Amino acid sequence: MIYDEKMNERIAELKGKDNLIILGIESSCDETSVAVVINGQKVLSNVVSTQIPIHAQYGGVVPEIASRNHINNISFVYKQALADAGICEKDIDAVAVTYGPGLVGALLVGLNYAKGLAYGLGVPLIPVNHIAGHICANFIDFPELKPPFVCLIVSGGHTAIVLQKSYAEHELFGSTLDDAVGESFDKVARVLGLKYPGGPMVDKLAKDGQNNITFCKSHNFDNYFDCSYSGLKTAVINYVNHCKQKNEEYNINDVCKSFECQAFDDLIEKTITACKQSGQNKIALAGGVAANSYLREQITLRAEKENIKVYFPQMSLCGDNAAMIASAGFFKLKYGDVKSNISINAQPTIPLDSNKSFLAK
Ligand code: KG4
Ligand code: ZN
Repeated sequence: MIYDEKMNERIAELKGKDNLIILGIESSCDETSVAVVINGQKVLSNVVSTQIPIHAQYGGVVPEIASRNHINNISFVYKQALADAGICEKDIDAVAVTYGPGLVGALLVGLNYAKGLAYGLGVPLIPVNHIAGHICANFIDFPELKPPFVCLIVSGGHTAIVLQKSYAEHELFGSTLDDAVGESFDKVARVLGLKYPGGPMVDKLAKDGQNNITFCKSHNFDNYFDCSYSGLKTAVINYVNHCKQKNEEYNINDVCKSFECQAFDDLIEKTITACKQSGQNKIALAGGVAANSYLREQITLRAEKENIKVYFPQMSLCGDNAAMIASAGFFKLKYGDVKSNISINAQPTIPLDSNKSFLAK
């Protein structure tokens, strides 16, 4: 395609440009977001239109409703992002967009908008893996953070420990064998009658609770760095349902605290071990669950004892946002082997282990 050939030349030119202005677009779940970021780190604007109040009525994200709301919102969010940044369309050097993983209908809205925009403006389209975006949120807040480091990815769809070897390469230590940690927070919250998204509510209630209920014993995995959340989630749901059936009272704060400790204590230990074993002294947290206060506090305390520094993005950059996508787009363009592909399709699932260099390709 002529556009792709032209854009490959443009990508080569942009690698040498000083101040790269990347427009990021994110629509993988229930946030429509557009951002303008210079050189992957200086955020000029980051507009996030959340659909949480809409989906909360249904207890979780309804994919069809999410897609429709992205369609309604995206043009307004785009215009606002340009206005907030104080730039015009001709200033944009490239458009970075989430192509997966996520809800396919939701992804398609952002991806098609980005394709139209990039084609119309005659600038490269950089497809970004959503998880790479979460990792890059750390580069926005901490310009001094440079690979290699160990990254703990904790989101609604992923739980994994990776070694970020360079901007363009990562290696998987281990990951969940079933549910993601964020998903288990949301399911536990639902059985406790808490509003969607449950993670922040469980976090809040746990602050006044005790870790005094053993839901699951630690489990040994063939690969030490793997983990599992389905058993813990089911144990909490069974405990609560059992109490309800027998008309027995349970302490919601203790349930939240016990669940939270059992969800994170082993994961923190595994992350520290991965860091020591690979000779690193830095850990970065990535994904929506990185907002959890117990996780932030405990991993920092545990890491301090080993002289390991822990980085976590500010709260507004932990959840889904387009600044992190623009940042990942920059690092991919600058250090990766990105080829223009205007026909790229949305990918609802992208396995982490078959994607050894998600910032590169
Ligand atoms: O990364 P994210 O915004 O979306 C995905 O890419 O999946 O993560 C959303 C997840 C939800 O499961 C939400 O409940 C969880 O992050 N979450 C939290 C907290 N804030 C958000 N989980 C535990 N504690 C929190 N404070
Ligand atoms: Zn996310």
